[in-house]
Amino acid sequence: MSDLTTKYLGLTLKSPVVASASPLSDSVDHICQLEDGGVAAVVLPSLFEEQLELESLNLDADLERGADSFPEAQNFFPDMLTYNLGPDGYLDLIRSAKERVSIPVIASLNGDTMGGWLQYSQLMQEAGADAIELNIYQIATDPEFSGSDVENSCLALVSEIKRHVDIPLAVKLSPFFSAPANIGKRLADAGADALVLFNRFYQPDFDIEDREIVPSLILSRPEELPLRLHWVAILYGHVGADLGVTGGVHSAQDVVKCIMAGARTAFMTSALLRNGAPHATRVVTALNNWLDEHEFESVSEMCGSMSYNAVPDPTAYERSNYMKVLGSYRL
Ligand SMILES: Cc1cc2nc3c(=O)[nH]c(=O)nc-3n(C[C@H](O)[C@H](O)[C@H](O)COP(=O)(O)O)c2cc1C
Repeated sequence: MSDLTTKYLGLTLKSPVVASASPLSDSVDHICQLEDGGVAAVVLPSLFEEQLELESLNLDADLERGADSFPEAQNFFPDMLTYNLGPDGYLDLIRSAKERVSIPVIASLNGDTMGGWLQYSQLMQEAGADAIELNIYQIATDPEFSGSDVENSCLALVSEIKRHVDIPLAVKLSPFFSAPANIGKRLADAGADALVLFNRFYQPDFDIEDREIVPSLILSRPEELPLRLHWVAILYGHVGADLGVTGGVHSAQDVVKCIMAGARTAFMTSALLRNGAPHATRVVTALNNWLDEHEFESVSEMCGSMSYNAVPDPTAYERSNYMKVLGSYRL
């Protein structure tokens, strides 16, 4: 029996397999099912900046009036007051989850601009959250808003939350930075205790007959994992933050890859939605068997063993790898 424990955000987790934010953790009963199913920690679904700003400005009535007089508003603000239980229900969920389960409970905030909503992190801490995950889901649509503006806004969000809480903070990042290694390091310097790579972007499709935007949520596939492995392997050893992978983790082999790249945790949502919470136990058992068969005594011994840490010039290595990949194609 190998030692599967991992240290993440200062917490000791019984394994690296964690449930990421999704409706699977939207009620205490569901969270209990995840714990019984074998996950080592759970991230709650996000509360959104828009919900919290709305609540603090007490604009509920205005929104309802707006929604009546301007039907599109309904599309922009879908049931915001009650989404993911709403701000008050969310704090109750943290409190009752903490009473019922022994695995760590990580609250999630989702937003991209500075504002009063960030103070909500303090209420999450007071309700008993073990840590906070900040999901910076930001699409820079304004042509005047530069790459460095995007980066500075992310850094400001992290510094602001760190002013409000003592519990650890993870940041769930986009894959679309021009210099992910640099922003990763600066986020850690600004106080991020962990970086979670990467957010998935749900890209609506076009219905060309009805000329409508069609929202589509397609669950992930393992093919999405290599992008994450790649950047975790690059960041490992160069940032003062733990690393976690979200996006494309489906099997024990996927978890092994995440750890070898340098992650402390491998988050799952799609695999649990498809196969049910007990899938986590199957993955953890298979992970244990894999470690035994390959004579690894612990997850930590394996962590980072395939990172770029030992590569003297990662940029040149990347270029040569790129050439190798192109050259490997046979007509
Ligand atoms: C139905 C659904 C709801 C989700 N809700 C959230 C959310 O509230 N906050 C968040 O940060 N991520 C959310 N996610 C993203 C997941 O946490 C996860 O990062 C993503 O699904 C990629 O992981 P996977 O490949 O294991 O599915 C959601 C995903 C799904 C499928």
